[in-house]
Amino acid sequence: MSLLRDQHIILGITGGIAAYKAAELARRLKDEGALVQVVMTDAAKSFISPLTMQAVSGRAVRDTLLDPAAEAGMGHIELGRWADLVLVAPTSADFIAKLANGMASDLLSTVCLATSAPVFLAPAMNQAMWQKPATQRNVTTLQADGIMILGPTIGDQACGDVGPGRMMEPHDILNALLAQTASGSMQGLNVVITAGPTWEALDPVRGLSNHSSGKMGYAVASAAAAAGANVHLISGPTALTPPKRVRLSSVRSAEEMFEAVQTAHSPCDIFIGVAAVADYRPQTVQTSKIKKNDDRLTLELVKNPDILSWVATQSPRPFTVGFAAETDQPIEHARNKRRNKGLDLIAVNQVGEALNPFGSDENQLVLIGQNEEIDLGRKSKAQLAIDLIETIAKKYHEQHKT
Ligand code: C5P
Repeated sequence: MSLLRDQHIILGITGGIAAYKAAELARRLKDEGALVQVVMTDAAKSFISPLTMQAVSGRAVRDTLLDPAAEAGMGHIELGRWADLVLVAPTSADFIAKLANGMASDLLSTVCLATSAPVFLAPAMNQAMWQKPATQRNVTTLQADGIMILGPTIGDQACGDVGPGRMMEPHDILNALLAQTASGSMQGLNVVITAGPTWEALDPVRGLSNHSSGKMGYAVASAAAAAGANVHLISGPTALTPPKRVRLSSVRSAEEMFEAVQTAHSPCDIFIGVAAVADYRPQTVQTSKIKKNDDRLTLELVKNPDILSWVATQSPRPFTVGFAAETDQPIEHARNKRRNKGLDLIAVNQVGEALNPFGSDENQLVLIGQNEEIDLGRKSKAQLAIDLIETIAKKYHEQHKT
């Protein structure tokens, strides 16, 4: 069950081009089972219509401070009490300045001031505005006041600039909210996680790889860190931003990943292999680009080391968890894989037309142990990762009871 289920969330929207992403965010929060009340500033309405937000949230948008229709004419107090969590996305530089100074000149800023619920801000603005001392000062003030700042990320901006100021993507915001509500079940444990694909070079420009985006592995790393673990994430090439509070080692090939794991695995309490490691690599890597002179080209491939199997045979041996992606008879194959590789648990997903997990924000997992099979269901990778981490933590503690 999602940690956001039945949570009362106020989704505040301020004026900025990233406001178009708020519709997606509202939908994702609703998918988690949250009750979403949108509050918009006047500037926000120039970027996205209240009707759109009403349709995706299922509730009429609130935007008026002095609203005779609100309970006793005090909408801000009633909304502030109703909220379990306030999220403002996007948050403009102006709104940050307003909150940092305790101003309450519209409904949204007044709710933020009146509520005792945690407040999260996802800033979005031009990179120069974000980097200005005034904005940075205001952000530091807000953080000292206990307000959580999510992002911004670095990248292309609507104004043509490149730099820090992009609003975090809706699924990353959701991840961050879920992480904040996690449990501490892995407090102090050392956890090593592999993620992403590997890249097996053929020559300086070409190589063999696979469709893994790294999203599931990064979500697992984020959930483990939120549960209190010291996480070392060893990742093949991905386009993802590393989760907060996670030590990242970036690698390319399976051999590099193996080397990094050999260094990282000790001392490690739990090892989770989420990476889609290439089974084979070209026997020789050409130093210059292969020319297309011949009609046929034969590649000689050699087997890569099985990192997970190696980890499972070490002494002391960490609690070892693997992943399996199968197109046919996934459960049967995964049961055999768990046994052959000597794993404590294996998480299996079926790769098919109904749900192809590669690159998707959703997944469906069954967790298989020696004597049981737990269906974690189909949900967001963020929520699945939390459920997975909670189950792994429970099994780990059962095994280490003295
Ligand atoms: O054998 P298969 O590739 O299906 O097993 C998948 C599991 O094994 C995943 O957990 C993956 O991270 C791990 N693995 C590995 N090293 C390999 C191949 C797979 O660690 N060379």
